[in-house]
Amino acid sequence: MKRSEEFYEGDREAILSTAGRGETMQDVLTRRWSRRGVVKGGLATGMVLTLGAPVLKAAAQDEELALNALGFEPIVLDEGEDMVVAAGHVAVPFLRWGDPIIAGAPEWDIASQSAASQEQQFGYNCDWIGFMPLPQGSGASDHGLLVVNHEYTNPELMFPGYITPNPEFAAAQAATPAVDNATPIEPGATPVVTGAPSVDIPEFLTNPTQEIVDTELAAHGLSVVEIRRNESGTWEVVLDSQYNRRITAMTPMEVTGPAAGIDLLKTSEDETGTLVMGTLNNCAGGYTPWGTVLTGEENFQQYFANLAQLPEDDPIRLAHERYGLTEDASERRWEEFYSRFDLTQEPNEPFRFGWIVEFDPYDPNSTPKKRTALGRNKNEGATSAVAPGGQVAFYNGDDERFDYAYKFVTAGTYNPDDRVANADLMDEGTLYVAVFNDDGTGEWLPITYGEGPLTEENGFTSQGDVLAMTRQAADLLGATKMDRPEDFETNPVTGKVYLVCTNNSNRVLDEVDSANPRPQNFAGHIIEITETDNDHAATTFAWEIFILAGDVADSGTWYGGSEDASSFAAPDNIAFDTVGNIWISTDGLPNSLAGNDGLFVAATEGEGRGVSRQFFSTVPGAECSGPEFNPDNSALFASVQHPGEGGTVEEPVTMWPDGAVAPRPSVVLITNEDPTAPVGRMP
Ligand code: FEO
Ligand code: CA
Ligand code: CA
Repeated sequence: MKRSEEFYEGDREAILSTAGRGETMQDVLTRRWSRRGVVKGGLATGMVLTLGAPVLKAAAQDEELALNALGFEPIVLDEGEDMVVAAGHVAVPFLRWGDPIIAGAPEWDIASQSAASQEQQFGYNCDWIGFMPLPQGSGASDHGLLVVNHEYTNPELMFPGYITPNPEFAAAQAATPAVDNATPIEPGATPVVTGAPSVDIPEFLTNPTQEIVDTELAAHGLSVVEIRRNESGTWEVVLDSQYNRRITAMTPMEVTGPAAGIDLLKTSEDETGTLVMGTLNNCAGGYTPWGTVLTGEENFQQYFANLAQLPEDDPIRLAHERYGLTEDASERRWEEFYSRFDLTQEPNEPFRFGWIVEFDPYDPNSTPKKRTALGRNKNEGATSAVAPGGQVAFYNGDDERFDYAYKFVTAGTYNPDDRVANADLMDEGTLYVAVFNDDGTGEWLPITYGEGPLTEENGFTSQGDVLAMTRQAADLLGATKMDRPEDFETNPVTGKVYLVCTNNSNRVLDEVDSANPRPQNFAGHIIEITETDNDHAATTFAWEIFILAGDVADSGTWYGGSEDASSFAAPDNIAFDTVGNIWISTDGLPNSLAGNDGLFVAATEGEGRGVSRQFFSTVPGAECSGPEFNPDNSALFASVQHPGEGGTVEEPVTMWPDGAVAPRPSVVLITNEDPTAPVGRMP
């Protein structure tokens, strides 16, 4: 979500976030250290404490776990025009923005895209990818459904002549300049669009049209696409599949769980507070153990306009401020075409976004459900793990500077023998927020109405209220303020949980803590969590820093103690292969390190633990996201999101992947040269 970071994550939101009543980790450390008579330290002290923290080690060091099992030759950070993959592998654009995914859909044509065509074509800005085996419940590796999030639109790269940022929005931004997301080391590699347009406006579209807005709405959401590997080893799309489907920002959805039907979710179009049109800014995602998909609604704030026109003391306005809603005109100006995006007309509409949405990709007629029990925030994604007692835990990060890491644990238990019996498991349970103690321990604090400060006195009248304002509740509980928690995944081999903190250039030295140990953290880090007794329902855990990203030559980085690792910065999404190696995609190059964003892999146990090696590199302007393996690891899918960002149709930065017309965000398929051999593992 590189672009939205530049436009929406400036000083203003950081100030809003730190205005909560929660403690920073530094507050906790200061108290602990002063009790011990230890002088408060900065980076070095924090790092020693963290890296020296006691941790639970994996029981057996299976040789298979070592990175040596991979054996590919790492590539070097690349700034080239085309993608690069490690030798012995093949990478091809597999699904591009605009590719037909429904039989009979129009071919992509940038000059005549419409909502009607886009609803049958692959959406824009692919992000999270899920491989769901076919048939459902099988472990098939050569046949499945690819489920892909389409996070946002770049209209300046989709519609010829489109001006961005729109003049009103640019003027508002100029009044409160945004802070760059990262501290440049090699500045100037990609132009950053933060000012007024330099082109001659009258020659261009200064306002979007109804057709443009409708096409953008249809380019959001998700795609479900049946794919299979044929006998010659080539992967292909099954165009006439019964499963192929687009879910968009206009698809009807049901709201379930404690916040369904509360007053905050009612609008003039939906007096029940239970029926929502669409999903927005679907970033990362995950699955349930029963084979449904979870998709995270992340930066929903950017679609809603005119917050500043609500009365200053309006509680609704105050609630929205904590989520950073747009004060004036929105960037895409949808509010001029749909009143639900205008806060002066529908002040409650934003409460209907910012949820985890569940749907069944195996039932093309299923209605997606916004599962409110998991809380409302800028959800990066959601990953699930079954606890020994049968409860299911869902982990998710709220991607904002100084926001929090969450876990939801179901009240009921998973039934592996009855898929239907699990259908509403996510509607009842306990939401927790993480506290990372400086001694390497941690706690999951329950976010429960009526407990502690979560009472009427503080503005909550029900659990639904608490969930609709999850951030405010977590502030009151004093959770640990993190460096933009992005992906959260469980290592299927060890059961350990990994939390990716992508960066936080706004953290100052006084705010440093052992879980967020660096000021002006431009490069990000990855935290390893071991739940007590390896029980995902536990309320305590142990943790340590797994990787402190950045230039390997920099003394402030940590790659398992190695100086031979591949440098990376701004880790975003992660995936695990079947032997427990972690695959890390980045979203922040080249603003933080030279080179295009890419994919890096490290062992998590044994030799090579934490030592990253670069496997794949994307193209100019793009981030890499959504890495996903099929079950036997013979196919690796990755998103090349927003290629050419920073340019326009008229002034392109890249024409990848077609080499003509315009860049197209695409899912890339990576295979070994032997298409049935595991990716990354060389003979
Ligand atoms: Fe959409 Fe936090 O990345
Ligand atoms: Ca990101
Ligand atoms: Ca992301």
